[in-house]
Amino acid sequence: MTSPHAGTVRPYLFNDRTVEGYRRAMTEATARVAGRIRRADRPFSGVSPERLAPEIAAIDLERPLHDHAAALDELERVYLRDAVYFHHPRYLAHLNCPVVIPALLGEAVLSAVNSSLDTWDQSAGGTLIERRLIEWTAGRIGFGPAADGVFTSGGTQSNLHALLLAREEARTEAPPARLRVITSEAGHFSVRKAADLLGLGPDAVVTVETDGERRMRPAALARELDRCHRAGQVVMAVVATAGTTDFGSIDPLPEIAALCEAAGVWLHVDAAYGCGLLVSRRRRHLLDGIERADSVTVDFHKSFFQPVSSSAVLVRDGAMLRHAAHHADYLNPRRMAERGIPNQVDKSLQTTRRFDALKLWLTLRIMGPDAVGELFDEVVDRAAEAYDLIAADPRFEIVTRSPLSTLVFRYLPPDGPRHGGLGRKLADDANLYAREALAASGEAVVAGTTVDGRHYLKLTLLNPETTLDDVAHVLDLLAGHAQRYVDDLAPLTEEVTHVCS
Ligand SMILES: Cc1ncc(COP(=O)(O)O)c(C=O)c1O
Repeated sequence: MTSPHAGTVRPYLFNDRTVEGYRRAMTEATARVAGRIRRADRPFSGVSPERLAPEIAAIDLERPLHDHAAALDELERVYLRDAVYFHHPRYLAHLNCPVVIPALLGEAVLSAVNSSLDTWDQSAGGTLIERRLIEWTAGRIGFGPAADGVFTSGGTQSNLHALLLAREEARTEAPPARLRVITSEAGHFSVRKAADLLGLGPDAVVTVETDGERRMRPAALARELDRCHRAGQVVMAVVATAGTTDFGSIDPLPEIAALCEAAGVWLHVDAAYGCGLLVSRRRRHLLDGIERADSVTVDFHKSFFQPVSSSAVLVRDGAMLRHAAHHADYLNPRRMAERGIPNQVDKSLQTTRRFDALKLWLTLRIMGPDAVGELFDEVVDRAAEAYDLIAADPRFEIVTRSPLSTLVFRYLPPDGPRHGGLGRKLADDANLYAREALAASGEAVVAGTTVDGRHYLKLTLLNPETTLDDVAHVLDLLAGHAQRYVDDLAPLTEEVTHVCS
């Protein structure tokens, strides 16, 4: 029996009879987004969770609006008006890039067709397109014909996947409690998370020191490999980072690869951020040595101008992917593989999986890899200029020159009578305040981090539209907020420790 509501609810289903409605809805949605993007004169409204939460809480999810336009009006109020806009040239905070239109085209197509990349019978050509892109990326890395990989939801999953494979390779040698993963002090926290998820012990991740430019010291790695060996621990992987989150530093890959080869240890290169160099005509050499890795993480949603999510994990020897393979009778029975029917679920940690690869496919087919590399090169150039700007500015101290596009620096309050001398705590508080005040104004969004226990500010440049004037303007705003804190808001203190001591 047909439901009494069939006439009113069926038009929501996307099919051959509703394509006109689909077209109208998509046109309306893109018009709203385009309007917001055109009008955004700042990256953020500065809204607080306290102000926004009641508006969202007040929406009655049991009472639908039955109208696209009305729902989009509501969405303007609860989301679009106050979203954080990464396309804005003064969004300078985290590793979020502006996106390219060919990728948005891919996004629209992939969600409408809604392929699932687990099996051939849910994707057909999607499976082959993803495979071509994995092959292409492996070629850019310099892997040989045995390489393989799979798209993932992000760097965190790619790192987890790589470490799972490394653990399976090492497991025959030692129980989980004796397994160790070595990374640098500047490595990403997802390495620790992966170790936890993989059931390694609490001491499994060992960090080794970095040099003045925040790169892993090969000598420290050699010492740690030796120490683990003598202590009866099995190093299941060394994770080198090509583009650390805070400093953009690239660990010395050839030296690290040589040490791993000599010790017979799996080398994973986390190039979540630095992967943009794979298509750079001027800076590809900075990744030399990556081809000697056993596995590599690349995040296209960081430095290939792709929308979230778009990431991949690649392995030099595709046979390693078998460690994550399971067969289910209903989905991917062995006989399918034996008949040569391609599927990606055998390689993935996920089952149902978006066809994110389509975004990169259309980006490469429309723009080409050199164009993507040029955009990334531009932001790296801009970051180098911004480094000089900050280094020459007496209001700030800057930590290190990044080979990529981050700037870690902090405001130094001038010595003044109100606080009886410069305090480290005062400098910390002034920088923390400046970051929050700037975000609340919505004029710009910057990030923060700690270096050697002190609070610093961080700019991550990923937008070629960001000019040096934008950076200079943001520095003035930050200095203004920090100085206001020092002059008017900081508690009076007797502290006399000098900030640079
Ligand atoms: C070096 C590095 N690795 C891994 C990740 C995790 O990537 P995702 O946020 O895509 O999970 C990040 C994120 O910033 C990163 O900077």
